[in-house]
Amino acid sequence: DLGEYRHYMLKEIFEQPKAITATLEGRLAQHQVLSCLSGLNPMAVLAQVEEIQIIACGTSYHAGLIGRHWIETYTDIPCHVEVASEYRYRRQPKRKNLLLITISQSGETADTLAALEKVKQSQACLASLTICNVMESSLTRESDLSLMTMAGPEIGVASTKAFTTQLVALQLLLAALIQAQQGETPVSRQLVADLAQLPQLVQQVLALNPVIETLAERFVEKHHALFLGRGEQYPVALEGALKLKEISYIHAEAYPAGELKHGPLALVDSEMPIIAVAPNTALLEKLKSNLEEVRARGGELYVFACKTANLVPNEQMHVLELPPVPDLLAPIVYTIPLQLLAYHVAILKGTDVDKPRNLAKSVTVE
Ligand code: F6R
Repeated sequence: DLGEYRHYMLKEIFEQPKAITATLEGRLAQHQVLSCLSGLNPMAVLAQVEEIQIIACGTSYHAGLIGRHWIETYTDIPCHVEVASEYRYRRQPKRKNLLLITISQSGETADTLAALEKVKQSQACLASLTICNVMESSLTRESDLSLMTMAGPEIGVASTKAFTTQLVALQLLLAALIQAQQGETPVSRQLVADLAQLPQLVQQVLALNPVIETLAERFVEKHHALFLGRGEQYPVALEGALKLKEISYIHAEAYPAGELKHGPLALVDSEMPIIAVAPNTALLEKLKSNLEEVRARGGELYVFACKTANLVPNEQMHVLELPPVPDLLAPIVYTIPLQLLAYHVAILKGTDVDKPRNLAKSVTVE
C-alpha cells in the first residue's frame, strides 16, 4: 500500500525513522544493549571473537564497509570486508576465532549464501552471524546467530531502509561485542545513548526533501557525477553513487576524497557535478582542502555539510546544511539526503524508480 506516496522507494525512505525505531525496540536499556541476537549462547560466542570477516553484496556491502570502520575504531578486533562474489572464489588463510558476518536484506543472495557455505564447510570460523531483514530466509537458517533488521518488507529495488537498519544492527552488534569482551564501557554506553537519538535526527533530515527536490533539477542533464567522502563517509559516498546510477542511469563514481589527485581530478571540469558529504568529524579540514582542489579546477560542488562546518557557499559551491550529529550516527544520517537526491533525479528523468531496468530485488542466481 503506497498511501500518500508516489513510489515505494519514497515511502521506504520516509519510513526510516519507524524502521530504525523498530530495529532498536526492546534492545536498548539505559546504558547497555540487551540481547539482540538469536541462536546459541551469543554472548559466549562474542566473548571469544578475535577476528571478523564481513561478506555481502551491493548496498549491504557498503554497510559492511562502515561496520568495519566502527569495529576497528572502537575495538582491537581486526575486521575485513569483501564482496561475496570475490570472497567465495579465493583461498582463505585460516584465522583464529573468526566471526563470519553476512549482511543481506533478502537473506537469499546467491553469492552471499555460497560464501557462507564455503566457510562452514572448511570449518574456518568460530561462528557465523547474519544481519538480515527476512526472518525465514536461507541465510538465517544457515547461520549460527542472527541479528534481524526490522525494516519491514522493502519493495523498491533500490535498497534504502534496509541499509540504514543494517547500520543500526552493526552498532547494536558492536555494543554487544564490547559488552561481551570488556563489560560495559564508556564507548558501549555512548553507542547506546547515541542510538536512542537516531530516529529523531533522521526525521529532521527528511525535512530537507523539498530543497533536495529543487537541487535535483541541476543533475537531470548530466551524464556523470562524482561522490566524495573520507573515513566512514567514503562508503556513504559509494552508496550515494550506487543509488544515483541504479535508478537515474547517470554514471556515478565514488572516491575517497584523498584519492582525487591520484587520478579522478583529471575528470573535473564545469560539466562534472561533485557531491560531497561533510559531517563535522576529525577529517573535515582534510575534506575541505580536497573541495578546494575541485573548486580550483572549475568543478561544481554540492556539499551536504554540518551546520557547524562553516562551509561558505559561493557560485561554485552549493551547501546543504544538516544538523550536528554524533560521529557514530553521521554515516546513517548523511545517507538520507543522498537517497532523496537519487530519487528526485530519477523522477525528473522519468525512469521506473521502483523497478530500474535490468535489476532484480533479490539476486538468487550467480
Ligand atoms: C542496491 C541493492 C543491491 C542489494 C544487493 C544485495 O540498491 O539493493 O545492491 O543490496 O543485491 O542484496 P541483499 O542485501 O538482499 O543480499
